Parts: sequence; C-alpha cells; structure tokens
Amino acid sequence: MSVIVTSDSQDIDPALQRQVFGALPTGVTAITGLTSEGTPRGFVVGTFQSLSLDPPLVTFCVDKSSSTWPTLRSLGRFTANILSTEQLPVCRALSRKGDEKFQGVEYEESPIGTPRIAGATAWIDCEVLSEVVAGDHYMIVGAIEELVPGEGEALMFRGGKFGEFTLWPTPAPTGEAK
Ligand SMILES: Cc1cc2nc3c(=O)[nH]c(=O)nc-3n(C[C@H](O)[C@H](O)[C@H](O)COP(=O)(O)O)c2cc1C
Repeated sequence: MSVIVTSDSQDIDPALQRQVFGALPTGVTAITGLTSEGTPRGFVVGTFQSLSLDPPLVTFCVDKSSSTWPTLRSLGRFTANILSTEQLPVCRALSRKGDEKFQGVEYEESPIGTPRIAGATAWIDCEVLSEVVAGDHYMIVGAIEELVPGEGEALMFRGGKFGEFTLWPTPAPTGEAK
C-alpha cells in the first residue's frame, strides 16, 4: 500500500471544499462484495471512474471510516454497479451504515463471486489491484475482469441532491449573448 504525504500548511476550509466539489455532478455507483458465508456487503460512491484502457483499470475513493471496505479489501474483488435513475432506494439502502443494507435488494452472483445488483446501468467486476492512503481516504485501483452493460439512465448526484442528466438539443447552444 502506498501513502501520499502532503503538507497541511495550507488552510483550506473543509466546508468550502465540500461546497465547491458538491457543485460537480457525479454518477452514483454501488461497490459490492460477497463474503465466504454468502453475505452481500456494499456501499455507495460518487468517485468511481474509468482510469486506464490498457490495461483496463478503474478507480474510486473510500473514506477510512468505511465499515464495509475492510471486508471487500480482504475478499480482493468487487463489482461496481452503476446505479440507474430507478435505483434511488438501492442508493439510500447501501449508503446507510449497518448489516441490513441488502434487505429487499435483488442481485445475481457474477463469475468472480460478487453481487451484481438487478437494474443497474452497468456491472463492472474487478479484482483489487492496489490501494493508496490519501489523507482521510483510500484510493482504490481495480483491474476489470468483466464489463456488462445494463439498461436505463445513470443516476446523478450534485449539491446533495439526486437527478438525471438532460442532453441539450443538437446543435448545442452556443452560449453567445442575445
Ligand atoms: C451519492 C453518494 C456518494 C457517495 N460517495 C462516497 C465516496 O465516494 N466515498 C465514500 O467513502 N463514501 C461515499 N458516500 C458515503 C457512503 O456511501 C456511506 O458513508 C456509507 O454509509 C459507507 O458505508 P460503510 O461504512 O458500510 O462502508 C457517498 C454517499 C452517497 C449517497
């Protein structure tokens, strides 16, 4: 595990950092694993994204306080379920703390033994490749084992609110003053 060490001399207000980055929309992805007893575990991130095409890699960041990540880390694999606009209840369930997150959440087991949640817009089965300690988070790098597109539109998150992406008509507005 690598560690990123930075100077803490800059006085950046955490509330301002949250506000500024809250304005940047993200997708909503459930990171899931299955214990050796067959119990599903998972949590929601807004930080999941593609990292490299060759080799095919993904990344996400998880708070050091996550109670689920240590289990998924020890399993060494996870599925990233890109949640759809129909899956706000799944998002709410998996972003809670506790052992009852998967009550009422349907899933199928992937070829690598991880839960693929029903109704996601895509499932990306991954092996954990590396992990970097970065401040109060871990940055995870995963190697893609299998990539399966699903259906529906991706759920979006911005400024503490959920929504969907609206495409501009073609051609896009020029932004010129009227
Ligand atoms: C839209 C959304 C995005 C989130 N993004 C992240 C994230 O990128 N990293 C993270 O650690 N937690 C993120 N969270 C919070 C976790 O889902 C939440 O803390 C969860 O309860 C952690 O569960 P655990 O302690 O069982 O791991 C997000 C929550 C929501 C609703």
